[in-house]
Amino acid sequence: MKFVSEIHPPSIIAIDGPAASGKSTIGKRLADKLGYLFFDTGLMYRAVTWLALQRRLDLGNEAAVTTLAESVPIEVQPASQPDGRSCDVIVEGVDITWETRRPEVDANVSAISAYPGVRRALSAQQRRIGQRGNVVMVGRDIGTVVLPDADLKIYLDATPEERARRRYDEIIARGEIADYDEILAKVIERDRIDSTRDVAPLKVAEDAIVVDSDKLNAEEVFQQILVLCKTTHRPYLGFMS
Ligand code: CDP
Repeated sequence: MKFVSEIHPPSIIAIDGPAASGKSTIGKRLADKLGYLFFDTGLMYRAVTWLALQRRLDLGNEAAVTTLAESVPIEVQPASQPDGRSCDVIVEGVDITWETRRPEVDANVSAISAYPGVRRALSAQQRRIGQRGNVVMVGRDIGTVVLPDADLKIYLDATPEERARRRYDEIIARGEIADYDEILAKVIERDRIDSTRDVAPLKVAEDAIVVDSDKLNAEEVFQQILVLCKTTHRPYLGFMS
């Protein structure tokens, strides 16, 4: 048996950033390229919000919403269908992936995500999955709170106008009706709630690399992040036989 010191590519990759900054698209592509698990944590907050609406809970009742988050297992799994989804969201055996994208979920998810008990319940599950490694995890607080020891932390940013334009294009591409000004107002409001909440607010982790995607297309952002993966290494110290 000999002691070895090697360098390995990043195993735990955290991507954070504001609403519609392209985290899911880029994160999924990166995970596929590396053969890693892609995990979109926003889907868990969306699932709790959808469930609370579905069960007609008073969304202002923090205790009731927290109990829901603690008691209903939300499974985020690799995408089973090529319909534009980045992951499957399964609750009690039912695929609710597209329900989590409904406008009423968009409108309420940031308020629900600000509840400390909801965050505690969901981030514990996210941490367990992230710590297994070989994962690209995206969200708002992955590099700061969920996986502060991540090997590579990226903060993907863009102006609200650019992000709203991308979200608008996505909705139109799905054949649905969209209003750009309304989307922009909602993006700005969600960012405001996400970055001013007391627990785990959206912010750039001290050791994160900020990628400004404003003047870059999806391919250019992807290539830039791939370079970061190739140039970031985690040390491996251990024994090999
Ligand atoms: O896809 P989009 O960027 O619009 O949002 P998302 O990533 O699906 O997240 C939806 C909402 O969940 C965010 O606006 C946050 O309020 C919340 N969230 C969070 O608080 N922490 C995370 N790690 C991920 C999402």
